[in-house]
Amino acid sequence: MSVAAFPPPRLVDPFGRPITYLRVSVTDRCDFRCVYCMSEDMHFLPKKDLLSLEELDRVCSAFVARGTRKIRITGGEPLVRRDIMKLFRSLSRHLASGALNELTLTTNGSQLALRAGAADCGVRRVNVSLDTLDPAKFRQVTRWGDLSKVLAGVDAAQAAGLKIKINAVALAGFNDDEFERLVEWAHGRAADITFIEVMPLGEIDGQRVDQYLPLSAVKTQLARRFTLEDVDETTGGPARYMRVAQSGGRVGFITPLTHNFCESCNRVRLTCTGTLFMCLGREDAADLRAPLRATCDDTALHAAIEAAVARKPKGHDFVIDRSTSLPAVARHMSVTGG
Ligand code: 5AD
Ligand code: SF4
Repeated sequence: MSVAAFPPPRLVDPFGRPITYLRVSVTDRCDFRCVYCMSEDMHFLPKKDLLSLEELDRVCSAFVARGTRKIRITGGEPLVRRDIMKLFRSLSRHLASGALNELTLTTNGSQLALRAGAADCGVRRVNVSLDTLDPAKFRQVTRWGDLSKVLAGVDAAQAAGLKIKINAVALAGFNDDEFERLVEWAHGRAADITFIEVMPLGEIDGQRVDQYLPLSAVKTQLARRFTLEDVDETTGGPARYMRVAQSGGRVGFITPLTHNFCESCNRVRLTCTGTLFMCLGREDAADLRAPLRATCDDTALHAAIEAAVARKPKGHDFVIDRSTSLPAVARHMSVTGG
């Protein structure tokens, strides 16, 4: 009989990258249908296949035991999952013990006014997706969204003491006249803002090549109005930051297409059905639900996690061009977790 090592060894991938960051998509459902993310008529994962909140906690806790320092709850829209605050509350015990550094949330903001109580569960920082400040354009890009609710959500979150970062996808011919306004608005309320290039994930109704805008175009536009200074610090994540001299605030750039950021990748992603993806841009995945449900002992779960991390790929190579209309990866960002 083998004796389990205690404490269990930390997770390091074959390229020597320590895996310290787990992103968890708690639902693939969403109350929006953003045009670059989903088709209007989406098929979601069957509810019966979902991990329960207790099972999600078990997987997260297994990762924490193996050295995960940061957990981000995403979706889909995580705040549409029933009783999701229970998961925040239970995971906050790892913050209290010091095992976990950070518990964060990515949301579209639609329900944030009702869920600003996340601040009481140890959440300090929230990413809110916001691509435009124009109510009509907001409705157009999200198909179903109401800008005033999102803005009320940002207000409520800030009032509760949560630090907000805005994520904006740069979309050709859509918000390319708004980048300066978005930066001014975000920095005016002490929020950082990050721009993201459209990624070829999942089928949508239109063509991503028509939406895609390299972030060099965003930088050029911002540089006309602002003085952008390089920031030395890296956050370990995919964003490269610059400081706007006029406001003192930061602007991040996530460029999965024009600059591949995989060398320093420290993350893996769990879906709401217990599938672990080692890379956002690859199809390979590991099923954690079967070992999770096989026994209430975590040995099989740990073995499955180890085996999965041992096959984490070096990186992805997204391309968006006219030679193919197929997405690089069939699943939507809402499945893998944004
Ligand atoms: N490409 C780039 N960003 C995307 N998001 C969702 N789908 C895509 C895509 N295909 C964004 C959302 C949100 C973040 C989590 O991911 O707008 O800001
Ligand atoms: Fe929902 Fe976010 Fe996808 Fe928009 S981008 S449809 S808010 S999951």
